[in-house]
Amino acid sequence: MTTPQHIAIIMDGNGRWAEARGLPRHAGHQEGVRPVRMCIEESARRGVGALTLFAFSSENWQRPAVEVSSLMQLFLDAIDREVDDLHENKVRLRFIGDRRSLSVKLQARMAASEELMAANPGLRLQVAVSYGGRWDIVQAARRLAAAVASGSLALDAIDETRFARELALGDVPDPDLFIRTGGDHRISNFLLWNLAYTEIHVCESLWPDFDLAAFDAALEAFANRERRFGLTRQQVEERARSA
Ligand code: IPE
Ligand code: IPE
Ligand code: MG
Repeated sequence: MTTPQHIAIIMDGNGRWAEARGLPRHAGHQEGVRPVRMCIEESARRGVGALTLFAFSSENWQRPAVEVSSLMQLFLDAIDREVDDLHENKVRLRFIGDRRSLSVKLQARMAASEELMAANPGLRLQVAVSYGGRWDIVQAARRLAAAVASGSLALDAIDETRFARELALGDVPDPDLFIRTGGDHRISNFLLWNLAYTEIHVCESLWPDFDLAAFDAALEAFANRERRFGLTRQQVEERARSA
C-alpha cells in the first residue's frame, strides 16, 4: 500500500460535536486533542514524513471572543502538556501562520518548543495557527519583492520553484493527501499553493470522532487513487513500469 509522505488535515467539526451533546463549543475543541495525538502517533508509526494540521485560521479570529480565548488557552495547555512526549518521540514540531496576532506568552511557548525539537529526525509536524493560504502567498511575494528591490535577487530568477521556497512549507514536499473531517468540501484558505495536486479525502466524521478506523480509511482511499499530474493514464502506467 502506498503511504502518503505528507498528510495535511483540516480538523473540522468540533463545534457541531459539542452542540449535538448540548455542550459549549469549547468542549468540542477539548475533545479534539485526542485525535490529534492519534494522528501524530499513527503517522510516525507508518513512516509518514510530514503531517500538517490546521488548528486555527486567519478567519477564525472573527469568532466570538470567548471561543477565541478558550482556543488560545487550549493551545497553551496542549503545548505544555505534549512537548516532552513529542520530543521523546523525535518529532520536529513547527508552527506556521501569522504569529504577531498571538499573545506574547503563546509566541514564546511556540518558539521554545520549536527550538527544543529543531534537530529531531522524526516526523515533521506543522501546526497551522493564525494561518491563511492567501497570507502565506502574500508573505512569499513580499519577501521576493524585497530581495529584488535590494538587488540580491534577479526578477528572472523567480519561477515556481523559487517562489515555493518562500512559503511557510517551503522546505517540505507538497501534501500527498489532504483530509477534511466534518463533511464540508472546501479548502477554507488552507494551503492554497501546496494543495495543487494533493488527493482530497473528505470524511463525514466530526473531528472529535476521527478515530483509527477513519484514519485507516483515508490512507486506504489514498492508496487506491491514480495520480496523473496532468498526464494520460497510459503515460502514468508506462512510467510506473520503467521506475
Ligand atoms: C474546527 O472545528 C476547529 C476550529 C476551526 C478552530 P469548528 O469549531 O469549526 O467546528 P464546527 O465546524 O463549527 O462544527
Ligand atoms: C477550517 O475550519 C479551519 C480549521 C479547521 C482550523 P472552519 O470551520 O473555520 O471552516 P469554514 O468556516 O467551515 O469554511
Ligand atoms: Mg468548522
